[in-house]
Amino acid sequence: MRLALLGGTGDIGEGLALRFAADTDHELVIGSRDAAKAVARAEDYETYLADHGIDRELDGDDNAAAAADADVVVLAIPPNHVADTVEQLTDADVLSDQLLVSPAVGMKGDKDGLHYNPPSTGSVTEYVAERAPDGVSVAGAFHNLAADRLADLDATLESTRWSSPTREPSASVSSTSRTNSTESEHSPLTSSRTRPRWRA
Ligand SMILES: NC(=O)c1ccc[n+]([C@@H]2O[C@H](COP(=O)([O-])OP(=O)(O)OC[C@H]3O[C@@H](n4cnc5c(N)ncnc54)[C@H](OP(=O)(O)O)[C@@H]3O)[C@@H](O)[C@H]2O)c1
Repeated sequence: MRLALLGGTGDIGEGLALRFAADTDHELVIGSRDAAKAVARAEDYETYLADHGIDRELDGDDNAAAAADADVVVLAIPPNHVADTVEQLTDADVLSDQLLVSPAVGMKGDKDGLHYNPPSTGSVTEYVAERAPDGVSVAGAFHNLAADRLADLDATLESTRWSSPTREPSASVSSTSRTNSTESEHSPLTSSRTRPRWRA
């Protein structure tokens, strides 16, 4: 299977790329608005993986090209820009039967910290599903993962340091696209991760 990580140059994209590369045999392509940036970041990931004894090749390309050949497309993009990106992919006619996966969590910050702030449609995942072309499935996933811990291959993801969720995650199904939204509040961890060299 071929996975495209759009916005894979960013925090959660980095973590997902490294974990998918380390733990699976799936083909991986890093997507970006800037193809050269995607290629450079893919090479950074390869170097970090090699330092951990993992020999993997990752591709890099612009978001549309990355999505075109993929079976699964992860939208590792800030919530406010996910829908725009899906519309750009639709306009580029590169979406047909892929599964779109949205880790996006609507959040807002104030003096008390970050708070869950979903769009009026219910969740960012549902917002994406409303904009995806017919035949393209949409799922929500990875919302509760902490990017820095995910991207530290020396860290275990089994942690007791997560805070308890304050509400049950929601699940929903749209008429045109399958969704499985679990956007609940996520709690950044306070790990002392050894960051890859390019993020030091
Ligand atoms: N960080 C976490 O711990 C975490 C955990 C769970 C879920 N999430 C969710 O994952 C998503 C990404 O979070 P993140 O922390 O990885 O974000 P981020 O690092 O701030 O951004 C990710 C990537 O998004 C792309 N991007 C930025 N502005 C854009 C725009 N206007 N249009 C299209 N692409 C744009 C950039 O890639 P290019 O410049 O290369 O195009 C950037 O590298 C968010 O929706 C967040 O809610 C994050």
